[in-house]
Amino acid sequence: MPTTPGRPDAAGRTMPEFAVPAPLAEHGPARIIAMCNQKGGVGKTTSTINLGAALAEYGRRVLLVDFDPQGAASVGLGVNPHELDRTVYNLLMERGAAARDVIVETAVEGLDLLPANIDLSAAEVQLVGEVARESVLSRVLRPVLDDYDVILVDCQPSLGLLTVNALTAAHGVVIPLECEFFALRGVALLVETIEKVRDRLNPRLEVDGILATMYDSRTLHSREVVARVHEAFGDQLLHTIISRTVKFPDASVAAEPITVYAPNHAGASAYRQLARELVARGDAA
Ligand SMILES: Nc1ncnc2c1ncn2[C@@H]1O[C@H](COP(=O)(O)OP(=O)(O)OP(=O)(O)O)[C@@H](O)[C@H]1O
Ligand SMILES: [Mg+2]
Repeated sequence: MPTTPGRPDAAGRTMPEFAVPAPLAEHGPARIIAMCNQKGGVGKTTSTINLGAALAEYGRRVLLVDFDPQGAASVGLGVNPHELDRTVYNLLMERGAAARDVIVETAVEGLDLLPANIDLSAAEVQLVGEVARESVLSRVLRPVLDDYDVILVDCQPSLGLLTVNALTAAHGVVIPLECEFFALRGVALLVETIEKVRDRLNPRLEVDGILATMYDSRTLHSREVVARVHEAFGDQLLHTIISRTVKFPDASVAAEPITVYAPNHAGASAYRQLARELVARGDAA
């Protein structure tokens, strides 16, 4: 899965060597990355959890924001969000709620979580009447920016107001794309939304990269999809590619990142490589 440096990657480019990032002497301020694709089931949550865990292994302080009412990122990190009194919903909707009071530690050292549950589904409607409704997430995260090096936002599969809030808070967007025939369908709309948010709300916003997921090297089909994505997006396509393996669903059942559940599996190495690639590109500390 992680291609050897110097060999061709899945798009036929030479795979660079991504150095292990040097330890950080100080932490923060965080760079915020939204993990975003309105298509469902493309690997957003899996990538958020495992990239977060891999960055934490490299000594980065990481906050993962669960921004999906399904709460999959929370559950995937062993937090039962239905037992919590306070979630990201309270933080968005209640005056006086502070991020530090809602954030929970996870079993992974250096990786914290702002959990979500089904309550968050009401926020989409309730936020509509708020002043500066698109920048609520940005505002509530401000007090903890200095505590973290990277904040990853796991978006829900929609381009609604919650996702617009994630894009307004973010410095960068990583777009996970499943390697299947219709992968590119809808990406134009996503890019258009990103451009609108950049023009109107958040001029610093950039696309950090497109992450091909669920790649199957045995099929010509997967390779064709990667070639088409490369043709359309050039070097926005990250070198790191995530292969399809049952270890990912297995790890989510165990409620652990793959880097903990199967630390020597190629899937764990791939997310470590992704972490190194993003650091090398300047997209993460
Ligand atoms: N590389 C992979 N190989 C095999 N299965 C994977 C891989 N990545 C994710 N999966 C599985 O595919 C399903 C969807 O993944 P995930 O939940 O990460 O996608 P998502 O984009 O967050 O979905 P949603 O849009 O519903 O939030 C999950 O069951 C997950 O375990
Ligand atoms: Mg998800």
